[in-house]
Amino acid sequence: MPLLTVTRRITFSAAHRVHNPALSDAENTRLFGKCNHPNWHGHNYVLEVSVSGEPDSATGYVIDLGLVKRIVESEFVQRVDHKNLNLDVPFLSGTNPTCENIILACWRVLEPALRPSRLSRLRLWETENNYVEYEGR
Ligand code: NI
Repeated sequence: MPLLTVTRRITFSAAHRVHNPALSDAENTRLFGKCNHPNWHGHNYVLEVSVSGEPDSATGYVIDLGLVKRIVESEFVQRVDHKNLNLDVPFLSGTNPTCENIILACWRVLEPALRPSRLSRLRLWETENNYVEYEGR
């Protein structure tokens, strides 16, 4: 049977400050630039959630992308949308909310929630030009 990958795109907006409290203010400014602004700033994130598998013989679907949308919204998006990622999101607590750390937390939430389907890739766009990808390895 062929192995296929289907992807659902979902957007959310959130505030953050990229900051490492172990470093000096000057070092934080040098490393993180505008994303270190002390009074927060926001991004319109785009999350792409990919599930891989063989198409079901009855439906022809790898997974119903409407189901993917509902799971991603209830398990992840509702917990981050219009929130402050530094202050409001328990599964990001204590982490520096870079795109990399957000996507790792997202994987930990979504991978079990999508079972028995297989989450194969997440892609998180922080700006139109920058994204991070993770395939669970
Ligand atoms: Ni930022």
